[in-house]
Amino acid sequence: GVAERVEDLLGRMTVAEKIGQMLQLDARDDLDDHVLRRHVGSVLHTSPERVLRAHDLTAQTRLGIPLLIAEDCIHGHSFFEGATIFPTQLGMAATWDPALLEKVARATAVEVAATGIHWTFSPVLCITRDLRWGRVNETFGEDPHLIGELASAMVRGYQGDGLDDPTAILASAKHFAGYSETQGGRDASEADLSRRKLRSWFLPPFERVAREGCRTFMLGYQSIDGVPITVNDWLLNDVLRGEWGYTGTLITDWDNVGRMVWEQRVQPDYAHAAAAAVRAGNDMIMTTPGFYEGALEAVEGGLLEEDAFDEAVRRILTLKVELGLFEDPRRPSTERIDAVLGTHGDLNLEVARRSVVLLENDGVLPLAGGVTAGADGRGVAEAGTRPARVAVVGPLADDAQTQLGDWAGSSGQAGWIPDGHPRSMITTVLDGLRDHVPADWTVTYEQGAEILTLEPHPDGERFPDGQPRPPVVLSAPADDAAIARAVDAAREADYVVAVVGDRIELVGEGRSTATLELLGGQVALLEALAATGTPMIVVLLASKPLVLPAAALEASALLWVANPGMAGGRAIAEVVLGLVEPSGRLPLSFARHVGQQPTYYNQVRGQHGDRYADLTQRPAFAFGQGLSYTTVEYRDLQVLEPTLGVADVLQAEVTVTNTGSRPARETVQVYVSDSITSVSWADQELKTFLQVELAPGEERRVRIELPVSACTIVDAAGARVVEPGEFELRVGGSSRAEDQVRAGFVVVG
Ligand code: IFM
Repeated sequence: GVAERVEDLLGRMTVAEKIGQMLQLDARDDLDDHVLRRHVGSVLHTSPERVLRAHDLTAQTRLGIPLLIAEDCIHGHSFFEGATIFPTQLGMAATWDPALLEKVARATAVEVAATGIHWTFSPVLCITRDLRWGRVNETFGEDPHLIGELASAMVRGYQGDGLDDPTAILASAKHFAGYSETQGGRDASEADLSRRKLRSWFLPPFERVAREGCRTFMLGYQSIDGVPITVNDWLLNDVLRGEWGYTGTLITDWDNVGRMVWEQRVQPDYAHAAAAAVRAGNDMIMTTPGFYEGALEAVEGGLLEEDAFDEAVRRILTLKVELGLFEDPRRPSTERIDAVLGTHGDLNLEVARRSVVLLENDGVLPLAGGVTAGADGRGVAEAGTRPARVAVVGPLADDAQTQLGDWAGSSGQAGWIPDGHPRSMITTVLDGLRDHVPADWTVTYEQGAEILTLEPHPDGERFPDGQPRPPVVLSAPADDAAIARAVDAAREADYVVAVVGDRIELVGEGRSTATLELLGGQVALLEALAATGTPMIVVLLASKPLVLPAAALEASALLWVANPGMAGGRAIAEVVLGLVEPSGRLPLSFARHVGQQPTYYNQVRGQHGDRYADLTQRPAFAFGQGLSYTTVEYRDLQVLEPTLGVADVLQAEVTVTNTGSRPARETVQVYVSDSITSVSWADQELKTFLQVELAPGEERRVRIELPVSACTIVDAAGARVVEPGEFELRVGGSSRAEDQVRAGFVVVG
């Protein structure tokens, strides 16, 4: 059995080998030293060559324990030439479709496993709070229920039917927990997080995947009540392992153990930091080479007993045995790679199509009333219509790199097209429109503006730990001549499609933004284009919601497409042309002004002063919003038995009608408002959702089922409870009151 094999191995390991087994180091550094001297149990940031080399080195070690190979494959195998790169997690969240995301994770696992990787650091379960945070794009948005549904689906997809399946990979729920509750949006800043706040919003998605068998959890960087997560006994042991019964593996984030010494300065040296991390129950220590020496010193100095590492090593060896690595370390082979890499283009296109969110449309879309698909996928306009002229404008109209998003490219975080990745696998918006407009339409292109200029960082190109420090990103000046050329193109066109947003240098770990505005010459460009009077379709290709100028908000149409991946340009073109119906819904709110942060919809009910004198607190676009090319109406919501006990399942029905002339994929969103709560609570929370496809004119009585046990709040003592009393069920197409129908129900104790 697995346990016997693990105990046998453990019994033969020296203390030094056990300490090494707990270490995960960067495969781009000195692999020989990692494997032969520090006996590492795992490496990250690999390539097939590095994986093969690492396995060969392992074969030279005394016990030959196979390595766990890890990578951040968070929206496809985004580091690998020729692999499928899906929209970013935030883009995928806009599909509101757990089944689709399970397929994405399965496809990713198949591609990732073929390259010799056993473990992906995905999904991200952090809740978006402040849009200035650089990692908003990696989240599923701002709602704990939506996050839980989508994360659970992705974990299932990655881990498959069992780890012995050679295409199964380990999922990692990260970053546990509260990492996104930043100060001023700054990544990894100290945050003020009460335990009650954690239990209310941040922990529920993690609890769900912990109970469902997610095999690994990654810890956040920050502290709670002054105690770094890495050594937070309450969070790791009382809550995760205790209350939730989690038996999986814990991995730190990048150099969390070292940071306690050199950055947070809560440990005097590596021996103490290592001892504290081991005692708190960490299993795998990411990229702190000094953990090895520190832990040895801790044993010698009596800070740790020799058997202190056994529990962690047991968990790591168990994963290796269950993955079958002792029999087959899953060495990457060219045949396996060639057979599966990049083979999920159809799925990728489907996800990209479904992730497009239409926010405004005065009727200009679909262009020319819509085209139909010809045999070659190119649009065919209705007979007798005049060929249209489309001016494609903007710095992101033909930017393949930004389209792929963060965590793409050469191993490590910087967004970049993977070396050798065929450009032909990526369609930009310009490519998509050129390929799909009817053959007699014309498409012209002008960039119109730059977004950024980059300058070396004044503090040097590297952080104290040697990691590269990103350059300073400055807003580029507007280029009047470029704008004038774009204006000319717009004047000569029937439609202008302006593709604006943020660039990859503004996104990611350690790359939060102080502002949310469109940078560079983009606002001036949009204003000049708007002044031409040519109907303008603004495509916001942005890693996260940005604050939009009037020229964008008042354009004929506005779409948000996150970083839509390799197939994004085609998907956007198809939506604009009406070859595909828009169906994405916002997984988070758009702010009107950066000073309005945070804007998430599920804030606790405030008092009369909880607003600005100079600004509404309503968001520019609310959680759940998104238009179709048709209209959908909700009416006659009925709770079938409106008096319920806590153990009952609420049953309700609502009539949903497609009142327009095009098909709809409608996301029916079900919110609950608890009328009176013993402590302050959100006015409403998403509790469930489902999607229905409705033909033009079709009317459906949709059935909603909701366990009353889901209608909880967290009380003053931190307990999650259903408080009997009056509730309101709110059902509709978004979190906005005007999009919902409502009905009351009563819970009796
Ligand atoms: O997985 C990531 C994490 O999300 C942020 N820090 C680095 C890790 C490994 O690359």
